[in-house]
Amino acid sequence: MSLPESPQGFKMFQLCQWILDPTGFMERLAEQYGDIFGMPALTSDPQRPVIFLSNPEGLQHLLSRDRGQDFCAPEDMNEILRPIVGSQSLLLQSGATHQRQRKLLMPPLHGDRLKVYGEKICEIGDRVLAALPLNQTFKMRQAMQDVTLQVMMEVVFGLSEGERYDALKPLLAQFTDFLGSPWRASLLFFGFLQQDWGSWSPWGRMVDTRQKIDDLLYAEIRERRQNPEGNGEDILSLMIEAQDENGEHLSDTEVRDELLTLLLAGHETTASALAWAFYWIYQNPKIYEKVMAEISELGPNPDPMSIYKLPYLTAVCNETLRIAPAAMLTFFRHTTHPLEFMGYHLETNTPVVGCIYLVHRRPDIYPNPAQFRPERFLEREFSPYEFVPFGAGMRRCIGAVLAQYEMKLTLATVLSRYSLQLCENRPVKPQRRGITLAPATGIRMKVTEVKAKQRDRAPVTV
Ligand code: HEM
Repeated sequence: MSLPESPQGFKMFQLCQWILDPTGFMERLAEQYGDIFGMPALTSDPQRPVIFLSNPEGLQHLLSRDRGQDFCAPEDMNEILRPIVGSQSLLLQSGATHQRQRKLLMPPLHGDRLKVYGEKICEIGDRVLAALPLNQTFKMRQAMQDVTLQVMMEVVFGLSEGERYDALKPLLAQFTDFLGSPWRASLLFFGFLQQDWGSWSPWGRMVDTRQKIDDLLYAEIRERRQNPEGNGEDILSLMIEAQDENGEHLSDTEVRDELLTLLLAGHETTASALAWAFYWIYQNPKIYEKVMAEISELGPNPDPMSIYKLPYLTAVCNETLRIAPAAMLTFFRHTTHPLEFMGYHLETNTPVVGCIYLVHRRPDIYPNPAQFRPERFLEREFSPYEFVPFGAGMRRCIGAVLAQYEMKLTLATVLSRYSLQLCENRPVKPQRRGITLAPATGIRMKVTEVKAKQRDRAPVTV
């Protein structure tokens, strides 16, 4: 057989469906064509529609042979992100440069490093919830976006106070918010809409905000290079000091682009995942009780690493990332040669994506997939191609551990210190938010009681 089947009809109509209702559109296509189908609307070459794949064996082939054997992980399909993250971003590199940048960025996001950030993350969760008025409805996604933005600024950028922090915070919030609605996200898909007509045009506002952010970030990078003794243990300091095997440092532009990449990749995704986790926990009293029992057993002011290891909390976070994965798709891979793949013939350079959302909704792997049931993660182990919220292979998420750490610490801090009430009367659906998937309503909740005083701890320097 040649190519997998694709939907017929106007490409523009398909593109609109993909932008406005990505999950419904994918579900309809999967029902019609199964676990591999083409999406012609996303390319201009009719011989090479983007192949959407949600079969675990196929995913294993795709993501374990993406170092040039059968597939590669090119940068050109991430082109739409260039105006946002800059040309030196990890997302826009491939081959040796991509490997070099990953090696430089990985250490600050893993292992012992995380222990240093733990207390800070708990403190930020506390601070954001403490600022909310009692018994007034707020949107949990927005609150969690505040948490993840502060984590980014304090843990990644190493800024926690001062003029530059105050100036940068609203600008970064504005910048990431730019992608917040399906309408604004469409500016990324349609290049002709990217017109800078001054501050009253959406694109013009984005360009202006980006310029202000750049001025502040470059000033910060210059200062850190001039006064290395003042560098802390934040990720920006580690990036500035990092050297590859040839003793080369990252350039200023690389550091700036990587900072915005980490911000873009890590801030929205983790905020949505956290908001969903609160939704599911408060929707089901049994789940709430089980999580609370586990957290309470740790006693007051538990060590962040012991929170991270809690089995039921881990299952709740995994089930959250399964049922509404913040990243619907992996990044694109391309075939490196003509390839027989799952009974089809793919020409060289055919783009293929792992469809994370559809894999996670397969009833043969996850019986009754629309039901939130953390126990499934305690009853069996899923392969890295069945449960794939952070992708796999060449471009596997470098922030996966930090994201899960952030989720668990924030949940444990908030649940143990505040009584909350869910104010949603109907099931909440996922909706596109830029290139991610977020809860459509933002998850309306109320703080009904502050159960414990702020954690009593020494100030933490990151
Ligand atoms: C719940 C939160 C998150 C989810 C669901 C998520 C998901 C993903 C996925 C699916 C990919 C593509 C993997 C592939 O193509 O195989 C990815 C890539 C990436 N993620 Fe995450 N991510 C999250 C949080 C974070 C955080 C906190 C950071 C950084 C602090 C981060 C940084 C990145 C980067 C830089 C890449 C690109 C890697 C590359 O091109 O080599 N992510 N993420």
